[in-house]
Amino acid sequence: MLHFPVLLEESLNFLIHKNNGNFIDCTYGRGGHSKSILKKISNESHLTSFDKDLEAFEDALTINDSKFTPIHDSFNRLQKYFKNRTVDGIFYDLGTCSTHFDDDSRGFSFRNNGPLDMRFNTTSGNPLSVWINKATQDEIMEILYKYGDEKHAKLISKSIIKKREIKKLKTTKQLSSIIEEIYPEKRKKIHPATKSFQAFRILVNDELNQLRESLEQASQIIKKDGIIVVISFHSLEDNIVKNFFRPSIKNFPKDIPLNSIENKDFKCIAKKIRPSKNEIEKNARSRSAIMRVFKKI
Ligand SMILES: C[S@@+](CC[C@H](N)C(=O)[O-])C[C@H]1O[C@@H](n2cnc3c(N)ncnc32)[C@H](O)[C@@H]1O
Repeated sequence: MLHFPVLLEESLNFLIHKNNGNFIDCTYGRGGHSKSILKKISNESHLTSFDKDLEAFEDALTINDSKFTPIHDSFNRLQKYFKNRTVDGIFYDLGTCSTHFDDDSRGFSFRNNGPLDMRFNTTSGNPLSVWINKATQDEIMEILYKYGDEKHAKLISKSIIKKREIKKLKTTKQLSSIIEEIYPEKRKKIHPATKSFQAFRILVNDELNQLRESLEQASQIIKKDGIIVVISFHSLEDNIVKNFFRPSIKNFPKDIPLNSIENKDFKCIAKKIRPSKNEIEKNARSRSAIMRVFKKI
């Protein structure tokens, strides 16, 4: 499956707000946004793209352009690379690439069989199989509630513990079958394993903490009048983004409604931008995308 860049035109129109500038794409993926940024920016400009996925980085290495620097690292280490440098625009397109689901060996897909891995960065950390064969029922249940909003978290976690006593969990099919088997609703809108797989993926990649840490660093690196664009795909990510750029309550008098105040360092210049019907028809994955744009003031 090809990966189609989401909200491409809309995001770039905000991000590239000046002719000569320095930009960061925190999530290179398959370069859908990075390659278009490179086409749009002047020769005096520069783009640095991060991805912690080795295959994404290898794809980025094939770009031969002096305006471009690819980095194989997590976006929560922006500051390491931008110690005394500031930039004009920072872009995030969070989550997974369609290509992650094509390769069974990555363990992202509940439809195909592969090792229970789910790491974006296969060169560090542990695959899901390590955690899921050790965690207590309460720990599994908590992750399913917290990161998957899975209402059957208790049933699923109980069944995981029972089944792993008979046979260690090693594959995506083992896990998805356990969930399918005990899932109470017979007519489902989405595959019963959807929410659980999302929850485990967020856990394995520490996605929400890394996003918080990265936004903190991005807010230091971005210049005055610089733009931060974030595309998220579920409410856990979107809430982190929204709340990060909100003012801290303690700094404001109680009689002013919170939603009428901007963060004193950032102004939200576009919120809740969603893909058009046309884009969703062409690329179903885009249907849950929400874009927010912030300007440093
Ligand atoms: C939705 S894809 C980006 C797609 C890209 N915009 C395109 O159009 O080709 C998200 C990418 O972010 C990467 N990613 C996720 N968390 C990351 C992190 N903490 N640091 C760096 N990259 C990360 C994933 O490996 C994935 O390749």
